[in-house]
Amino acid sequence: MDSSLRPELFNFLGVPMIHYYTNNWDGVQNFQARQDDILLATYPRSGTTWTSYALDLLYFGQKSQERQETIPIYARVPHLEATLPVKQPGSTQALIKETETADKLLTSPRIMKTHLPVQFVPKSFWEQNCRIIYVGRNAKDTVVSYFHLDRMTKMHPEPGDWNTFLQRFMEGKMVFGSWYDHVNGWWKKMQTYSKLHYMFYEDLIEDTGQEIDKLCSFLGLSASTEEKESIRSKVQFSDMKNNSMVNHTTFKGLDFNKSSFIRKGKVGDWKNHFTVAQSEAFDEDYKQKMKDPTLQFRTKI
Ligand code: A3P
Repeated sequence: MDSSLRPELFNFLGVPMIHYYTNNWDGVQNFQARQDDILLATYPRSGTTWTSYALDLLYFGQKSQERQETIPIYARVPHLEATLPVKQPGSTQALIKETETADKLLTSPRIMKTHLPVQFVPKSFWEQNCRIIYVGRNAKDTVVSYFHLDRMTKMHPEPGDWNTFLQRFMEGKMVFGSWYDHVNGWWKKMQTYSKLHYMFYEDLIEDTGQEIDKLCSFLGLSASTEEKESIRSKVQFSDMKNNSMVNHTTFKGLDFNKSSFIRKGKVGDWKNHFTVAQSEAFDEDYKQKMKDPTLQFRTKI
């Protein structure tokens, strides 16, 4: 992947985006979901990979060891709106459209992920009444994790220094837009769409087994106790960090000298980044933006 140029953020239908996620807009909007598709939706850095892996293990862990050992998680679970640049022989560049990758998936169900705000989700997912899982994470840990991701990927705009990045996050000028709009938009969707399961990263940390149980019940799966225990152990942070099929070390375009994709896996790492003044200003601004008392995130557990 030629990642020499960092892309510009631009306003796309009211949401800041980069071209890697809008190049294939017609392909995304016209994507044909199937009834048994599972869509995993998240704001970036909220536990997407973790949940992707748990879902993949739930559906396919018993069926194919080869899948677990040879196919990276980002290929098993395509990122619907992404277009990924690849070098062709003769140094021309092509874009892989992940909608086409999803179309070619032979597995059933297909598990796909998206970072799109709820209003951009292809309408066929709603029409087909697909099961959708949303994972949210507290804003402070999300912005820290996002900062480190943007340091390591040239597919995103230059992060600048920490303080600049934090201000941008508070202003919603991030790839995929405002965290505040994202988590609230998806939360409100539950009022009108019953097949949406809203999870929290902090709950996954606190009691992974319980969250796997809830997933099974939402998905109508009856995994055995042993199977669930095996999944719980495989999705532990240290196991995932050392597993080259899920830790993204095979993903071109990430600079592992800058950070790790599976980085710390903690609730509260924000305390190592925010100054007291930054934290106070953030909390004040947060109160203005997060008015719905039914949606609560935990910054410590
Ligand atoms: P940190 O940068 O705070 O460590 P995503 O997959 O949506 O990009 O989210 C990435 C975040 O999830 C990173 O957070 C990463 O370390 C964390 N993560 C991934 N797997 C995890 C696991 N098994 N346990 C805890 N956190 C995990």
